[in-house]
Amino acid sequence: QNARESLYIVSEYAASFFSNELWTGTDGRAIGLSYFKERGFREDILKKFQVGYSPDVWDALIQKAVVSGHKEEYLEKTGLAIRNDKGKLYDRFRGRVMFPIHNFTGRVIGFGGRTLKTDKNVPKYVNSPESDIYHKSNVLYGLYHAKKAIREFDNCYLVEGYADVLAVHQAGIENVVASSGTSLTTEQIRLIGRFTENVTILYDGDAAGIKASLRGLDMILEEGLNVKVVSFPDGHDPDSYMHHVGSGEFKKYIENNRRDFILYKANILLKEAGTDPIKRAGIIRDIIESIAKIPDEIKAAVFIRECSGLLQVEERTLLSELNKMRVAKF
Ligand code: CTP
Ligand code: MN
Ligand code: MN
Ligand code: MN
Ligand code: MN
Repeated sequence: QNARESLYIVSEYAASFFSNELWTGTDGRAIGLSYFKERGFREDILKKFQVGYSPDVWDALIQKAVVSGHKEEYLEKTGLAIRNDKGKLYDRFRGRVMFPIHNFTGRVIGFGGRTLKTDKNVPKYVNSPESDIYHKSNVLYGLYHAKKAIREFDNCYLVEGYADVLAVHQAGIENVVASSGTSLTTEQIRLIGRFTENVTILYDGDAAGIKASLRGLDMILEEGLNVKVVSFPDGHDPDSYMHHVGSGEFKKYIENNRRDFILYKANILLKEAGTDPIKRAGIIRDIIESIAKIPDEIKAAVFIRECSGLLQVEERTLLSELNKMRVAKF
């Protein structure tokens, strides 16, 4: 048995341990399971994603794992255990609800743990560190559970967080993944590209989410994939919105509010610019910058046409601007 295999095995042991705590532990049920229930998650969804609870004790996992024959070395190498200055091991995850992270073949490679405290000084999520089996920048949370549906619907919904993936599944939409614990990377986009050419961004409707969506859509275009965006009202994220309106309404909302990236970007920028003509000219340039990222020239031309209609600017003006940018780029 090689070293990487040992890391998978101890991670899978930990996932079972946390899940067992959630469903059968006294605190797990009273604290962890109640938490998920209060947030409106169904049991089948919790089981599907193998969520769990880490007891609020210094070494609950380590104790049990070692008794079951797992080596401290592997607990440490996966980051499940941390060694303090005195050389003593303690659990990384304590008193948190646990989201195991699977690779796309379904093996457990890491965890995200959410605090149950509302204290602002406690980090909301603690994540596993990088390890020999977990490289954050090329993992998409939920891909294992989504890949079949991504192929079937030829589209991948992209959300920010763990809870969003669960909520969107609960609404009956299974082709969804999250970049989780990192901002979207090129490797993650290429991973999606192995299953579909179409991405729909469903990021949080707050300032950070909007900013991340603009960055993300440019990166997706650059990889030659098609991108659409659905935005959520009043600071909602997919998870809060699904629980707010219910799964049927949520599905309809997604279908009716999917916009192509130009319309989405133009809307955001036009709101910011108001009637100032100089600012409005800036918007045009900004949108062409996104179009200039599209490798396929025919696709780019289609978007130039749309942009021309939308912003009431002649197509040839836009095209000459586009060509300038392309020249500058290469
Ligand atoms: N995240 C993280 N560390 C943090 C905050 C966020 O790794 N301190 C990651 C998590 O993967 C999280 C995602 O970024 O799921 C989105 O963050 P946020 O919107 O703040 O959290 P939610 O997913 O909405 O979490 P919840 O609904 O449980 O509040
Ligand atoms: Mn490696
Ligand atoms: Mn957010
Ligand atoms: Mn969120
Ligand atoms: Mn949320």
